Amino acid sequence: MISQKEYASRRSDLMAMMQANSIAVIAAAPQRVRSNDTYYPFKQSTNLSYLSGFPEPGSVMLLIPGREQGEVVFFCRDKDPLRETWDGFRYGPAGTVSHFGADDAFPIDDIDEILPGMLEGKDRVYYAIGKDADFDKQLMIWVQDVKGRRGSDAVPPGEFVDLDHLVNEMRLIKSAAEIKLMRKAGEISARAHCRAMEICRPGLYEYQLQAEIEHEFVRSGAVGPAYTSIVGGGKNGCVLHYIENREKLKAGELVLIDAGCEYQDYAADITRTFPINGKFSPQQAAIYDIVLAAQAAAIEMIAPGLEYNLANDATVRVITQGLVDLNILNGDVDALIEQGAHRDFYMHNAGHWLGMDVHDVGDYKIDNQWRVYEPGMVVTVEPGIYISPDNTNVDEQWRGIAVRIEDDVLVTKAGCEDITSMVPKTREQIEAIMAGKQSA
Ligand code: GLY
Ligand code: MN
Ligand code: MN
Repeated sequence: MISQKEYASRRSDLMAMMQANSIAVIAAAPQRVRSNDTYYPFKQSTNLSYLSGFPEPGSVMLLIPGREQGEVVFFCRDKDPLRETWDGFRYGPAGTVSHFGADDAFPIDDIDEILPGMLEGKDRVYYAIGKDADFDKQLMIWVQDVKGRRGSDAVPPGEFVDLDHLVNEMRLIKSAAEIKLMRKAGEISARAHCRAMEICRPGLYEYQLQAEIEHEFVRSGAVGPAYTSIVGGGKNGCVLHYIENREKLKAGELVLIDAGCEYQDYAADITRTFPINGKFSPQQAAIYDIVLAAQAAAIEMIAPGLEYNLANDATVRVITQGLVDLNILNGDVDALIEQGAHRDFYMHNAGHWLGMDVHDVGDYKIDNQWRVYEPGMVVTVEPGIYISPDNTNVDEQWRGIAVRIEDDVLVTKAGCEDITSMVPKTREQIEAIMAGKQSA
């Protein structure tokens, strides 16, 4: 769990970076209608979660460095016994003060009256520009109200600055408490992948493996998947974000599972690919071993001080060489790398930042230069080879084979640590677990 002390120190760190005489406005995510009066499960805006842990919709947090009556102001839904009977508990303004570190808190229904007064006289407003069109519009109405409601000599703020830029950099480096939660998300997700390997057999449907995985997530205390689980049998694995998960799993084919849970706001992101009948064919084995070697080569390139792109370059080299060795690509490896020939088979990059969001925030380049790794960053390493069933340039024996292997890697002082390595990934380990010889 992230302590209230840590949330408070995140807010202070952010306020220390804000310019004098400024205000930050951080809104809850909107509730999305699924149909009529039913809603999608609510997902709090990540930045409000990061800065407060406040879980409710219909709220806005203000950070006002130097404000005499207190720097942290909340607007939230008022207590309402009838609504709470239907929709559940609300903290209410008093609860945000006692539980979430607010110095002042008001009912959200009063925001139009109160917020313009807090904007008045400020030079600069920090907020997530362009993320929520309705909120953008609302903020401009409050800005206009500074003049309209408060008198013609009232001065509205003149500068609007993207808050995300400051918060993203903070989120990129994980604290000890965040790392603990990410390890837990990784551990639960790893267990779920092991369960899928143990249970898999020809004749099951993709959605049945999805159900096994997601059952393991939820029974372990995760809220559910951090993104829609991908379970692609055979050629479906070639569709990078395949989420239909409706087809029957066939003997002789591979299944690619990309699934990770969200545990207390933190995501895991794991992919494993294994044979549906428990035995790799020679062709599947050949492709699999290239991807596994590419992943190992990339992990070698992750350590403080090393540039972000070196891991990707390592995967491209191993995959290009491997495809040449199998005569799937032909030519000089360096020339093929130069041409980007791997892109027909490996069409994404080696990974991305991971944290509260699965594709987490943080710049990959600074001043147009690849940034270097620092301890506390978490990155996925996920090379793949996808041979389209329609690729007539490739010998038929290879068509329809898709392999991705993905783990979550924490940058440490000494180098890095694979925090999802508990799921088997050598062919021998996978065949053993599928034969019931080894439990995870
Ligand atoms: N699960 C999406 C990805 O691996 O990026
Ligand atoms: Mn993934
Ligand atoms: Mn990923």
